[in-house]
Amino acid sequence: MQTVLITGASSGYGLETARYFHDQGWRVIATMRTPREDILQQSTRMRVLPLDVTEPDSIATALKAAGSIDALVNNAGIGLVGAFEATPMSYVRKVFETNTFGVMAMTQAVIPQFRDRRSGVIVNVTSSVTLAPMPLAAAYTASKQAIEGFTGSLAHELGHFGVRAKLVEPGYAPTTRFAANSELRVADLIPETYAEFAAPIFSGFSNPALVTTERDVAEAVWAAANDLGGQLRFPAGADAVALARSA
Ligand SMILES: NC(=O)c1ccc[n+]([C@@H]2O[C@H](COP(=O)([O-])OP(=O)(O)OC[C@H]3O[C@@H](n4cnc5c(N)ncnc54)[C@H](OP(=O)(O)O)[C@@H]3O)[C@@H](O)[C@H]2O)c1
Repeated sequence: MQTVLITGASSGYGLETARYFHDQGWRVIATMRTPREDILQQSTRMRVLPLDVTEPDSIATALKAAGSIDALVNNAGIGLVGAFEATPMSYVRKVFETNTFGVMAMTQAVIPQFRDRRSGVIVNVTSSVTLAPMPLAAAYTASKQAIEGFTGSLAHELGHFGVRAKLVEPGYAPTTRFAANSELRVADLIPETYAEFAAPIFSGFSNPALVTTERDVAEAVWAAANDLGGQLRFPAGADAVALARSA
């Protein structure tokens, strides 16, 4: 039986991915900063562990408790929307600590066991903002674009050992806790001088033509984790797939 460890499984895409892999018969280690057993299936194949991807001790403890795994899904992430000029550098660093360095640290921590066994897959969840530049998301895009380049390069050296590295690029889901999870209010990051520029963009956000569902992302992570061909990128959701086609 295969085992997947998923970061940020307390809500949204990560939670649905945990449920989906369980339903496909995998053993699932659903990690979250504050463990909650009640949101997932009660099952001998489902285990919840605490993990904060920005804390090296937390990573080491979680991976020790997890034991041998076959797949790592780096899903944990935080958002940031606003004018870059108005965004505190302390928060830009926090976004990178989670979305970029957290992914790298988790990846580095699992590589030795995958390399030793000459198998395993790392699936990094980025965003459709990497497929086409989106306004008012400069720092967030940078944090995700870094992981696109990182994963593409890493796939080569890990491929030498039979280990795979993949990207899942979800589009916008209005239904996850993503917007609520940002510590900064968007309104505080749009100075008056940007109001005229920002107004039509926010009106587009509130009325998107196409969106992504949690299920779209779970299915794309599943496809990526099980892909034995050379496909690196897996856009997830109707909006992301449309962007990838036009890119
Ligand atoms: N929703 C969208 O529109 C969208 C679009 C494209 C890409 N994405 C990406 O998809 C991924 C999942 O987002 P989502 O929409 O499902 O948002 P979500 O509902 O807010 O879920 C994000 C998860 O990340 C966790 N997390 C945040 N900081 C963490 C840390 N330091 N250590 C461990 N876990 C941490 C959160 O855990 P807590 O419960 O502890 O806060 C939460 O479980 C993210 O990487 C995001 O960038 C989202």
